[in-house]
Formats: sequence, C-alpha cells, structure tokens
Amino acid sequence: MTISIRELQTLTENFNSDPKCSYSLPALVYIKPDFLNIEREAIFYKSWQYVCHVEQLRHPGDYIAIDIQGRSIVAVRDLAGVLRAFYNVCRHRGHEIVKDRGQIKNFVCPYHAWNYNLDGTLHSARHLKTIENFHFDDFGMVAVQIEEFCNMVFVNLDPEATPLATQSGELAREIQEAAPDLGKLTHAHRFTYRVKGNWKIVVDNFLECYHCAVAHKDLTTLLDMRNYQVTTYDIYSSQIGPVSMTSNSNSAYNVEGASVQEHYLWWLWPNTGLLRYPGDPNWMVWHFIPVDAETTIETFDFFFQQSTPTAQQMEAIEYIDKVLQQEDIDIIESVQRGMNTPAYEKGGRFVVCSGNDKGETEQGVHHFHGLYLKAIDRYLQGRSLDQIEQAPSSDPQQTIGAFS
Ligand code: FES
Ligand SMILES: [Fe+2]
Repeated sequence: MTISIRELQTLTENFNSDPKCSYSLPALVYIKPDFLNIEREAIFYKSWQYVCHVEQLRHPGDYIAIDIQGRSIVAVRDLAGVLRAFYNVCRHRGHEIVKDRGQIKNFVCPYHAWNYNLDGTLHSARHLKTIENFHFDDFGMVAVQIEEFCNMVFVNLDPEATPLATQSGELAREIQEAAPDLGKLTHAHRFTYRVKGNWKIVVDNFLECYHCAVAHKDLTTLLDMRNYQVTTYDIYSSQIGPVSMTSNSNSAYNVEGASVQEHYLWWLWPNTGLLRYPGDPNWMVWHFIPVDAETTIETFDFFFQQSTPTAQQMEAIEYIDKVLQQEDIDIIESVQRGMNTPAYEKGGRFVVCSGNDKGETEQGVHHFHGLYLKAIDRYLQGRSLDQIEQAPSSDPQQTIGAFS
C-alpha cells in the first residue's frame, strides 16, 4: 500500500467530538485508492451488510448469492427453515458454488459436483474414497453470521460481531412504530445507479438536509423543514419530518389522501439507508456499494402493498429517480471533482443548527465521520506499520498511535 503514516495521522488531526469545533474528513480518504483496501478490512468485513428483504428467503431452499467487497456470500433458508449464510466457496478447489438467486435442495458445485446440504455440511462427492484421512466435518461450507432484522436480511463477515438487533439499540422499535405494515409489503421496483463519487460522499450527502433548500427545491415544498428532526445514535441516525401543512404549492409529487404523512429516513452504519416517504404505505432500502475510490453503485429497492406500483406510486418513484436522485448525483460528482484538487486537502466544517433551523444541521455527517475514524482506529490498533504500508523509511515495529 502507498498510504503514508503522515496521511493516516492527518485523519484525526482536525476532528473533534464537538461538531462545532470539528473539521470533516480530509480529501485523501475520498480519493486515494488504497483507502478502500483498509475500509474493506476495517468496515465492510466487520459491519452488518444488507442482503435482501426476507421475502426472497421465505421458503426452504430459497437462496441468494451476493458480493461483499470481493467476497462471494450465499444466504439460504435451509430445509429445516433456518436462515443461514456461508462463503459461496467450494472446499474442494475453491470454485463459487451458486450464482444469482433461486430454489435448491442441495448446493452442488459446478466444477466437480461436490454436494453440500443447505446447512453447509458436506453431503457427498465423487471418488472421495481415494483420499486418505478425509473427514467430512472438516470440509463443510464456511458459515458467516446472518440475521433477520425488521423483515430485512443482513450478514456480517466478522465472526465476533454482536447481533445487529443488539448493536442498533432502539432502531427496530422505531422502524416498527413508523412502518407497522412492513411485513406485508413486497418488492415492487429497483433502480441501480453508477455514480462517479466515493461511497463516503454518497453517505455524507444522504446524512444532511442542509442542501435540501438549495438543491432539492421541490422536496422542500413537500416537507415541513421547521419540524425536520435529525438524531444520531450509536450505529445509526435518523431524519424525520412531517409533510408541510402550510405549503400550497407542493411541486414534488402528489400526496393527497396519503396514509403516510411523514418522511422517515434512517442511516445504518456504514452504507445502508432505510426510508419511508409520504404517500401510500411504502418502504425503501438504499444500498451504497463502493466499486473503487471514485465509483459507487447505489441500489434503491421499493416495497409496496402490491408488486406493481399504482399510478400515484409511479409518480413518487419517478420524482425520486428523475428529480431527487439526479440532483444528488450532480452534487456527489461535483464534490468528487472538488476533492481531487488541492483546495480541499484539510477537509471542511460542519454546520450545526437548532430551533427552527434544526432540520438543516449536519450533525449526522459528523456522527458518520466519528464512526469512520473509530473503525479505522480499531483496525490500526495493534498492527505494525509494515502491515499498513511498505514505505522504505518506516519503522516496522512502530504502531499507529494517532487514533487512540
Ligand atoms: S471446486 Fe467445487 S467440486 Fe471441485
Ligand atoms: Fe440530497
């Protein structure tokens, strides 16, 4: 890797636990390709990652293969009805076992047909008798943690990770209160975007509505920004606000007669957005997936009471796709270009608002940056410099102390 010690030290140099006194993350974490290698180990292989709505794994034999930053994982409902996840890797010679999604009774590797039960144990393989000292129990698929949380399925590649329900405190209760019908909703639509911006710029932008009055003029005719509340918790934050009662010119989309009159948005560390917007009963999951330092794939999944959106639902979907998201993509890609100049090296500042302006606060972005720095710190603790960089001048015995 080519990240220098000096660069790692600058990450926390200007960060302060009080957002009013703090700088935001410096530009290098948004532009240096090597940071993604550290982030994979420090963040993406250690956190709860969204897989799908539980309806996709409802029946025994349902499976779905996903990629988590280069690691192929399969989630499955086994024949006894237990939700499980494994590395999607055959223990014979390492071939991936399944693709996409579907329904199966056994996992059969497409290379030499080793056959695994859906609980991951090795069932059979051809000519095994020719191998000496072979023990079936040593060659089961390697399990990873999986959890159903508010009708969604998440996995965590860290065997030591605490359950999502424990880590996320009151989040499940908040979601259930806001969306008691979540279990009855079904997948109705997906948008996928490839954005020319670092995944953290996408998250930063997701976490504040300071830009809304400037960049999302239609959205601010729909929402009552004076009552838009931003709250941060351990590993999540929320932005909740009602539909405006005073605006007589809502130009976003029609919410007449809508049963949902609030805009709910939760961010779950590190890269998942959970939303319910004014309109018919709905749920959205936004997933921000890093491709490289300057490219992010965003998926937006929409869930409604039926799998074909109504005309009114389509109006909301089209506003989100063609107006709101295009406005955000323009912002994200512009910020990425800005990060690539010397003008932003040190990072920026956070605006922290209260009272009638509370909806415009950037404390959610500060909260994210704090969690980010903690995760990088945890990763660096105890690692010697030669594990972090191979710079010829470095002392391989010295450990990074800048984050403690
Ligand atoms: S690699 Fe899977 S059966 Fe050979
Ligand atoms: Fe936005």
